[in-house]
Amino acid sequence: MKALVTGGAGFIGSHLAEALAARGARVIVLDSAANAQRRNLEWIRSGGGVEVVEGDAGNPILLGQLLPGTDCVLHHAALPSVPRSVADPLESNTQNLDATLRLLIASRDAGVRRFVFASSSSIYGDSDAPSKHEELPPQPLSPYALQKYAAERYGQLFHRLYGFPAVSLRYFNVFGPRQAFDSPYSGVIAKFCAGFLAGTAPVIHGDGRQSRDFTYISNVVAGNLLTLDAPEARVAGRVFNIACGRSIDLLQLVADLNALTGLKLTPRFEPPRIGDVKHSRADIQAAKEALGYAPATDWETGLRLTLDWYRTAAQSSC
Ligand code: UD1
Repeated sequence: MKALVTGGAGFIGSHLAEALAARGARVIVLDSAANAQRRNLEWIRSGGGVEVVEGDAGNPILLGQLLPGTDCVLHHAALPSVPRSVADPLESNTQNLDATLRLLIASRDAGVRRFVFASSSSIYGDSDAPSKHEELPPQPLSPYALQKYAAERYGQLFHRLYGFPAVSLRYFNVFGPRQAFDSPYSGVIAKFCAGFLAGTAPVIHGDGRQSRDFTYISNVVAGNLLTLDAPEARVAGRVFNIACGRSIDLLQLVADLNALTGLKLTPRFEPPRIGDVKHSRADIQAAKEALGYAPATDWETGLRLTLDWYRTAAQSSC
């Protein structure tokens, strides 16, 4: 099998590429920051059938060279972060939506047999439902959420119009090893883990009672592999939540990190972020039924493994 992983040098993409290579697939990692993110690709062995290409996921010339003979595309290149999209909606639209449309067109033309799009729980916005299921009306609160929703709809339209087998996986706040921690737009767990290891008090935007269905990376990898393996009729043109079905608030996150590190750090509170969602918890029944998905790594294990990884990474960079 030949697979193209866009964003394959990034946090989620590099784990997917690694899992596919471990299964014996021929993998092309396409990433606009492939060289800068080489540390995420240290698992690549020479002669192991992995090719790394630095470039844009929406570049039609590059795609024309890479896509022929490709069986599946896992599209994970994106400009993540809700606040970044609020600050620069045009640039995030270019990278999150325009590039996806170009990639869909090129993948359709190349006869790709499965296309997995990395979508986001942000699409649900602040709906009152206690857990978010795929049939809820979307309420995007940020350009990022709107772009992810529009890209999902393109996937569905491509299925309807051209029979193209696009599937969208709505990830709920993925965390784990390799997630960047040093940007203002980094995810909260990455930031807090690195902060705790440096003994720095976490900054909470809002009252800390906002909650997320934090999902450990291995669950996301499993969701992707199951999507690739599922019969086309069961998944093509569909959308699935990939999460744990449990929500944790930020005060709990801080308490758990204090317990794991033996510290007693007190958070500093700042005003909530614009476009922030209050509560997010997934209904994962659809993925269970169609894919056989079940989150194998729970919150406690995932957080411990993640903190351990940042500890080791910090030691190895000294
Ligand atoms: C959102 C999406 C998620 C997507 C991600 C991409 C939702 C529910 N989730 O994540 O699926 O993958 O965008 O970037 O929309 N926070 C602090 N202090 C910090 C950092 C964050 O208090 O230093 C707070 C944020 O205000 C937010 C929560 O922690 O309430 C989580 O933030 P973050 O990790 O950035 O992810 P989301 O914006 O929730």
